[in-house]
Amino acid sequence: MDSNVRPETMERITTKEMADAFIDEQVKAVREQVGDKKVLLALSGGVDSSVVAALLIRAIGKQLVCVHVNHGLMRKGESENVIEVFKKGLDANLIYVDATDRFLNLLAGVSDPEKKRKIIGKEFIEVFADEARKLEGVSFLAQGTIYPDILESIKQAEGKQAVKSHHNVGGLPEDLQFELVEPLKLLFKDEVRVVGEALGLSHQMVYRQPFPGPGLGVRCLGAITRDRLEALREADAILREEFDKNGLAEKVWQYFIVVPDMKSVGVKDDSRYEGWPAIIRVVNTKDAMTATIEEIPYAILHHITARITSEVKGINRVLMDLTPKPTGTIEWE
Ligand code: XMP
Repeated sequence: MDSNVRPETMERITTKEMADAFIDEQVKAVREQVGDKKVLLALSGGVDSSVVAALLIRAIGKQLVCVHVNHGLMRKGESENVIEVFKKGLDANLIYVDATDRFLNLLAGVSDPEKKRKIIGKEFIEVFADEARKLEGVSFLAQGTIYPDILESIKQAEGKQAVKSHHNVGGLPEDLQFELVEPLKLLFKDEVRVVGEALGLSHQMVYRQPFPGPGLGVRCLGAITRDRLEALREADAILREEFDKNGLAEKVWQYFIVVPDMKSVGVKDDSRYEGWPAIIRVVNTKDAMTATIEEIPYAILHHITARITSEVKGINRVLMDLTPKPTGTIEWE
């Protein structure tokens, strides 16, 4: 039987009991697969890699080496949270790599969205490979592959064209060929979340909104500059905080800020104040192939606007993107 095909008899995991049974089964399978060898994992802090990390920590403890690469395009507090949850909370064997300068130097002056994506994807692999080469005794690479990824690669193998080049870890250099450990590869996203909670990860972490691999890099439109990236990060943090506070985080699929590479004239403290606009994007979708726009109460939008324009350096306007997908993709780049 092809191990990449979900058996028709496999029941959807919906309860803690079912998740516990799945976890027991996978813990056993992973222990059998890896023996006393080390396993490497790129831990971004996203749902899939976090659940894999928690599962493998349960199965093999310190034999799992997690590498968290901060590409400088993370949201506010995100890398700190990964360290908090996995290093402090779960006592993980975690290597933190601050590669901000490597990424931002390579991206300086690059405005083409696909070039940006390719640079980020390639550099991510290089930074990760550099860390992998420093380690000894690693024989396995764990990945947070889930069933939709497998279905997607089957589609791509059939020659269907993708709109954007997504990146996930894979395609490591020739000298680093590991056997794969992919304990979630037959699960759908909702099942991964149930398993994550059964493993003790917080509801907030397991139900967090998706975040693209290239991170804020595809939301800081055009050529990224450090000041505009910082403004985006701060504005996004305010939006997230207000959505959490107002119970909107669980009602929408994705909500974030985009900052284009353009300025307009504004006024602050009686003086001319040129700044970037912060664009709010809030979408709902089932599968990210199409998306609709969610209505957000005006009072909340006014409050977010007031906070962003007063608290974030360099932003003088707040706009709202009302475009469904199609025609707009969810991310702007
Ligand atoms: P688009 O912009 O194509 O986005 O409508 C659809 C969904 O995919 C997310 N996205 C990514 N996820 N790597 C990822 O893992 C990527 O490179 C990437 N680009 C977009 C996007 O946030 C949305 O949820």
